[in-house]
Amino acid sequence: MLEKLESVYQQAQAELTEIRDSAALAAWKSRYIGGKGAVSQLLRGIGGLTPEERPVFGKRANEVMAALDEAYAAREVLVQDIEMAADLEGAALDVTLPGRQPAMGRLHPSTQTLRRFSEIWAEMGFSVYRSRDVETDEMNFTLLNFPPHHPARDMQDTFYTTDPDVILRTHTSAGQIRAMRELGGGGTKPIRVVLPGMCYRFEQITNRSEAQFYQVEGIAVGHNITMSDLKGTVAEFARKMYSPDAKVRYRASYFPFTEPSMEIDIECFLCGGEGCSVCKHTGWLEIAGSGMIHPVVLRNGGYDPAEWSGFAFGMGPERIAMLKHGITDIRNFWANDSRFLEQF
Ligand code: DAH
Repeated sequence: MLEKLESVYQQAQAELTEIRDSAALAAWKSRYIGGKGAVSQLLRGIGGLTPEERPVFGKRANEVMAALDEAYAAREVLVQDIEMAADLEGAALDVTLPGRQPAMGRLHPSTQTLRRFSEIWAEMGFSVYRSRDVETDEMNFTLLNFPPHHPARDMQDTFYTTDPDVILRTHTSAGQIRAMRELGGGGTKPIRVVLPGMCYRFEQITNRSEAQFYQVEGIAVGHNITMSDLKGTVAEFARKMYSPDAKVRYRASYFPFTEPSMEIDIECFLCGGEGCSVCKHTGWLEIAGSGMIHPVVLRNGGYDPAEWSGFAFGMGPERIAMLKHGITDIRNFWANDSRFLEQF
């Protein structure tokens, strides 16, 4: 029996060194050291031994059991390592692969244009004045020399609230009076500001007109400000915004709050003035309305028009972004389609 025990011990050890997975390890365990394993089976036959043989066998069987237990525990650790390594190999992690680019947000094309505007106007000494989106009819129209029921009000279809005097501003010109009153020191100080902001019009939405859009207004009030200051300033803006040799032209126009009034065109930067579909074959693109601030408006802002004069202009950054990038549908600006926005 002792010989049998030794041979079981040898065999168990030999088999154990070949085992590489946990299923085989579990089978080995029940075959040799489990309750019904080979060592236990032999121990159960101890009754057939002589009283002298019994303690010798029993002692040796316990030693064998303990040695196999220990060998099992050591092998178990090794098998776990082997299996983990195989798992990792299966997952095939290639650390040299380039990572995935996270999707990056970016500034909306209108915001980009607005920021560029503010930068250029700041270089020319204009600070930013933030007026309000919700306005009074008085600021938006009356004080800008649109008398009640004047047909010029129809040029700008208005969103009204339940209070007939409270409207959404139809143009940033609505902030002119506020800026003059707030910064002009009661008609004693010159001012030079731009007023960027959202405007709202109750319009049929088409590829060329939206119910909301940005404008950037500008006003300069001082002593001896003339039409040539306006022309020079706008021409300088065009050179900075488009190109150092941008050409500008002025066309007589009408706005109730300026006199004289003019519209400002720049030579089409897409065709260089030759004529193309963007400039409708005229060679020119309209970029702003402008003029000398009407004496009535100056007075409403607190200035004495006998001593003070000023110019004003208003531009639409979306329109300018459309011209610059060849965008044919203004609705893209509010559709929030990332395929459009990603291009800027
Ligand atoms: N407020 C005018 C509009 O929305 C644009 C404009 C024209 C603004 C002439 C001005 C200006 O400041 O002088 O159509």
